[in-house]
Amino acid sequence: MIMSWGWPFLFSILLSFSTAYSSTTTIFTNQGIDGFLECLAVNSDQYGKIEVYAPKDASYMKILQSAIRNDRFKSPETPKPLLIVTPRHESQVQATVNCSRKHGLQIRVRSGGHDFEGLSYTSPLLVPFVMIDLANLRAIDVDIEDNSAWVQAGATIGDLYYRIAMESPIHGFPAGFVTTIGVGGHFSVGGYGAMMRKYGLAADNVVDARLVNANGEILDRDTMGEDLFWAIRGGGASSFGVILAFKIKLVQVPPVVTVSKLTIKQGAFEIIQRWQHIAIYEVPKELFIQVQISRTKFRRNLQAELQIMFLGPSEALMHIMEEKFPQLRIKKNDCMEMSWIQSVLLFAEFPKKAPLNVLLNRTTEMDIAFKVKSDFVTTPLSKREFRKIFNKFLEEKQFAAVLSPWGGRMHEISDDEIAFPHRAGNLYVIAYTSLWGDEEGAQASQEHVKWVREMYNYMSPYVSKSPRAAYIGLRDLDLGFYKINTTPTYSEARIWGEKYFKGNFDKLVKVKSEVDPSNFFGDDQSIPPMTLQSES
Ligand SMILES: Cc1cc2nc3c(=O)[nH]c(=O)nc-3n(C[C@H](O)[C@H](O)[C@H](O)COP(=O)(O)OP(=O)(O)OC[C@H]3O[C@@H](n4cnc5c(N)ncnc54)[C@H](O)[C@@H]3O)c2cc1C
Ligand SMILES: *[C@@H]1O[C@H](CO)[C@@H](O)[C@H](O)[C@H]1NC(C)=O
Ligand SMILES: *[C@@H]1O[C@H](CO)[C@@H](O)[C@H](O)[C@H]1NC(C)=O
Repeated sequence: MIMSWGWPFLFSILLSFSTAYSSTTTIFTNQGIDGFLECLAVNSDQYGKIEVYAPKDASYMKILQSAIRNDRFKSPETPKPLLIVTPRHESQVQATVNCSRKHGLQIRVRSGGHDFEGLSYTSPLLVPFVMIDLANLRAIDVDIEDNSAWVQAGATIGDLYYRIAMESPIHGFPAGFVTTIGVGGHFSVGGYGAMMRKYGLAADNVVDARLVNANGEILDRDTMGEDLFWAIRGGGASSFGVILAFKIKLVQVPPVVTVSKLTIKQGAFEIIQRWQHIAIYEVPKELFIQVQISRTKFRRNLQAELQIMFLGPSEALMHIMEEKFPQLRIKKNDCMEMSWIQSVLLFAEFPKKAPLNVLLNRTTEMDIAFKVKSDFVTTPLSKREFRKIFNKFLEEKQFAAVLSPWGGRMHEISDDEIAFPHRAGNLYVIAYTSLWGDEEGAQASQEHVKWVREMYNYMSPYVSKSPRAAYIGLRDLDLGFYKINTTPTYSEARIWGEKYFKGNFDKLVKVKSEVDPSNFFGDDQSIPPMTLQSES
């Protein structure tokens, strides 16, 4: 059933509708677009003319591509925005919302562009839409006295880590690894990283937010109410409004942390099998041990890399490892002591001597395409099972499976504290990734995508069931999406909604029905309002 949402299906609509798309564009040129552009011009304010780009403009492609982080969505066939608006002030976001709604245009919002299915800048539904690119709204105001910061949605987590580190060597923030990820998209899906066992997700540390609702009003935590504030922490923001900024609580980091990367070529099954228990339940919250499985350099075999981050000095880490995980035989010179911000650089794969300001660089060298799927593991697997799974992994040329440990703070927070539902009972999340280069061509990309799907099917006996849970941050349209030209229905959305949100899905639908009953903020996998349902 789920396979009917498969790649061949998606691919064929992309191709067959690319012509239909341009004709839709023409219709909107006469109706919505002109009206929209006039409306924007009228609404230009003391902050100047609102910048808007059409496909005929020289800068359109440059701006569009500036934050496409996956080559899968760089092809000419990928459906593109009718217009791109790049606001420089909050009021310009309001004007864009007001004008789009008035002229019947949909919007998509992009902060960092890391959506795994590109939903911030494209759509398999081919609904004509205006893209709001928030890259210019990226101010960060760190208040060390108050242990807090206001961060605009278009800032990257690299910007945020950098600003915090400039203010204090003992403050930090728990969020993801790749520093070009946008705050707007990341905090609203959850956001996990090396400090999640100690401090939870990025979203767990959000204390206030500013958003533009479907009426074009700016709301904060007080005026939006607790239910909407709950929904935008883990429910994805694209169903509810345009996030302008989040206020976060900073966390304490020690002046010295310890980082280690251990490559295990022999006996990896045994190590990983033990890891499933030790890294989650036995070691302190300050210790994060992530496993990455990939091919060895010469591609014949698999290796497991243990990526370790400890909030404390190496001496203390050695003690813990000797007691809890002697099988690893970690040695003192496997460990590197550094500041927390240096560990951020290391985990983001920057070269050792890179200056801190590489964190501010939004340009990436990644010329790769990828497809990702996610699973949660709730029951430990045996050595034999890992052996079988590794053999399956060997079928794909270029892949990585990353196993990120839960436990600690992640298990203390209840499933419905915020909209992100994956807490106690989960041992770790797996992200399966197949990577390939553009030059391999369309046929090859279909093969790679097919492999990830097969891997996912193969894993079904070993992972969470009813629902087979998934993390919305690792968005996957194979789980389902709305059909073209239909009113989003609860029964469709539940297919993927319960995987992403488990028991929180119904509350998300309720909040959506209250704050956006006409579904102005909708995309291919957004939360449907009950108010539109034609089904009984
Ligand atoms: C290379 C890579 C590494 C990653 N590593 C991690 C990781 O370590 N941990 C983790 O938890 N996740 C990780 N992710 C997933 C990432 O957290 C999500 O893709 C996240 O949604 C990206 O946010 P963004 O702003 O960069 O993306 P965008 O593509 O800009 O947005 C993602 C979604 O959020 C919506 N959105 C964005 N901004 C706003 C806004 N201001 N208001 C309303 N809606 C908005 C978009 O419309 C879209 O639906 C990774 C992704 C990639 C590609
Ligand atoms: C958008 O509409 C809202 C609500 O009607 C109004 O408060 C706001 O001033 C408008 N903003 C702009 C910039 O058009
Ligand atoms: C940013 O990173 C890109 C890719 O690595 C690089 O080409 C570029 O020179 C960097 N820009 C700056 C200002 O450092």
